[in-house]
Order: sequence, then C-alpha cells, then structure tokens
Amino acid sequence: MALLKSLRLQPGLGALSARASSWWSHVEMGPPDPILGVTEAFKRDTNAKKMNLGVGAYRDDKGKPYVLNTVRKAEAQLAAKSLDKEYLPIGGLAEFARASAQLALGDSNEVIQSGRYITVQSISGTGALRVGGSFLQRFYKFSRDVYLPKPSWGNHTPIFRDAGLEVKGYRYYDPKTCGFDFTGALEDISQIPEQSIILFHACAHNPTGVDPKKEQWKELAAVVKSRRLFPFFDMAYQGFASGDIDRDAWAVRHFIQEGLNVALCQSYAKNMGLYAERVGAFTMVCSDVDEAKRVESQLKILIRPMYSNPPINGARIAAAILTQADLRSEWLQEVKGMANRIISMREQLVSNLKKEGSIHNWQHISDQIGMFCFTGLKPEQVERLNKEFSIYLTKDGRISVAGITSGNVGYLAHAIHQVSK
Ligand SMILES: Cc1ncc(COP(=O)(O)O)c(C=O)c1O
Repeated sequence: MALLKSLRLQPGLGALSARASSWWSHVEMGPPDPILGVTEAFKRDTNAKKMNLGVGAYRDDKGKPYVLNTVRKAEAQLAAKSLDKEYLPIGGLAEFARASAQLALGDSNEVIQSGRYITVQSISGTGALRVGGSFLQRFYKFSRDVYLPKPSWGNHTPIFRDAGLEVKGYRYYDPKTCGFDFTGALEDISQIPEQSIILFHACAHNPTGVDPKKEQWKELAAVVKSRRLFPFFDMAYQGFASGDIDRDAWAVRHFIQEGLNVALCQSYAKNMGLYAERVGAFTMVCSDVDEAKRVESQLKILIRPMYSNPPINGARIAAAILTQADLRSEWLQEVKGMANRIISMREQLVSNLKKEGSIHNWQHISDQIGMFCFTGLKPEQVERLNKEFSIYLTKDGRISVAGITSGNVGYLAHAIHQVSK
C-alpha cells in the first residue's frame, strides 16, 4: 500500500495512468476493404432494383445464396453419426487432405502415386496462401520476391507482404483487348531474376476472368522452367471456370508433368459453396517422400503457433463429398450447374446489350470465364451505374457474374448501355 502511494506521487507515473485509456492514440483510421465496402453501401440502398455485383459469392437465378444439395446431404450424414468435436491434428483431417490433393492433381498422377507431396488442411484459400507464403519466407533461400499477375486478387499483395515477402508483378491483362496480354506476360516473365517466386491463378483469374489457353500455358511453363522460377498456384475456382474439375486443373497438372515442383493453394469456398466454413488446402510437391516428410514437419511447426489446428466441420463435409462416389458425382453435376448458369448470364448480358443498341464490342464478356468479368467500364461509368441505377461493383469495372439473374440482366444491360453510349 505504502509502495502504491509512493508510486502515485511520482508525476511521470501519474501522467501515464491518466493516459492509460489512450494506448492507441497514434493508430490512424484505415480505409475500408474495397470489396466488402461495396456490400455495405449496397445494404444501405433502398432502391428495389439495386444489384450487388461486388462480392464474389455464387447466387442462384433468384439472386439468393445457394447451399449445395450435396452439402446438405453430407451434413445430414454427419449429424446422424453424432461425431465428437475433438481437436484435429495440426495438419487437419487426413482423409480430407488426401482427397484434396487427388482432386487437384488427379488420382493417377505420379505425384499422388509416389507420395512425394504434402497436403495440409488450411483456413480456406486465404489461409493456404498465408501458410505457403510464410513457409517460403522461412525456407525459400533463393529469393524474397514473389511476382503476381497485374492485376491480381486484391488480397494477394497484403497476404504475401505480411508473410514477409517482397511483392512484384508481371504484365497479364491487356485493357485494349480486355484479354490476356500473352506477349507482355512472356516478355516480363523471361526477365524475372532466376529462382524468383511466381504466382499463377490456376483457372478463372480474379479479377479479370481472363485465362491463358493451353498452348499459352505450355509456353509459360517452358519459361518458368528455363528461368528456374518457383511456381506457386492459387486454385480458388476449380470447376467454376469450365464446369469441369479436370479441365480447370490442367495448368497445374501440366507444370508437374514438365517436372516442376509446385506449391498449390485450394479453396472449397466457391466450388462447394462452403464460404464461411473456411475449408482449403495447401500442397507442396516435393522431390521425394523424404523431402515431403521434412517439409511436413516444418509446416506443422509453422502452423502450430499461428492457429494451432484447423476447424473440423467443413473439412468433414468436403471429405464426405469427395470420398463417396454417389455424392461426388452429384457434386460434379452441381459444380457444372453453377458454372453453366454463369456462362449463360454472360451470353444473356451480351445479347441484351446488343438489343439495347450498344455499338461496342462486348465479346470479352462471354470470352472471359469464371465468376468475374472485367467489363472495361471506366471509374466514372462505374460511378454512374452506382448513383443512377443502384448497381454496385468495384471501381476497376469488375462485376461478379454470379450476381446477375434472368430477372435483372435486362436492367443491367440497359444501365451499362446508358453509361457507355
Ligand atoms: C484468387 C483467389 N484466391 C483465393 C481466394 C480465397 O478465398 P477464401 O479464403 O474464401 O477461400 C479468393 C477468394 O475470393 C480468390 O478470388
């Protein structure tokens, strides 16, 4: 007590206790997330015709969130088993990790057959990228630099930067054609310092919806090989691009076939609609089984202090779907159904724009694939869509095609025509 009194008498300490409520006075207000901010503004809008084309989540043709039938079935199966809720191992549910690697690489892949890989369950695709980034930061001794396509998913830069890597870029999107800048990409990639890390979107590139063709992937793989770059694949949309799981994984499999040992991030947010369950996987393809075991041990050491171990529920659902033949084939149909609805919305948007009398070439809308479309609309046109028509999208002109329905595609085409004529 006497000690406490004497401490209070010291002027410096008194001042500190008076300021105790302002430890964070130096913290500045940060900007809102560019994508989630769009949704906030959408929610506040009272216009009955409003459209949210910002967020990358699938919607059915009524514009409603969609829970897959196979997910409901898997959940019912799991509920009937009254399973416990014990901790998973650090690397997650083994059955899920195995099935994930098989889904990405194909059952007959030599990597799967030989076992020269390690897959850990991750906190969806974002968590896989972060674990992968942190592993590279700790163990990739050849470079600190990770090269992203320009543009790339907005979260890639902060993920890799926060993991301690240096983020750089290579040309990818050509605004003149609204397509892939193949020449620019090849030119840039062939000048990247040897052994740097390069990130590719395996399919359904976000935000542009522009993917390389098979022949172009082959050339990209050849340059990556000759420059001895480390290929890091982000596959958040397997099945969503073409509706075919194998076709969408072609690039990853091709790189492996060419002898390139890749890192791979997977997400089940989109292709199983398990957004909030946070189910994903991180895979490192290694030179041999022994290397894979060593990498596994270090991934565990990395993950343990990060989040200890991953959540169980979503991984159980995904594993149930992937490992039971009847559920799996029904799921593949559901994935195809989602992809096809998106493809059909692209076509309907283009034909409605023609009907409106637009003289612009909107071909890129149906050429691009996956959930997103880079419309080519300028920020001021986006602003008009927003202010005059209550249509919400990111400033770069990206729209989530999944937010379009047969009920509102006409309204959208009309609005786009009004701001672009
Ligand atoms: C390219 C890309 N990578 C990764 C992710 C990760 O998503 P999630 O963490 O929800 O699986 C997304 C989601 O939008 C994405 O578009």
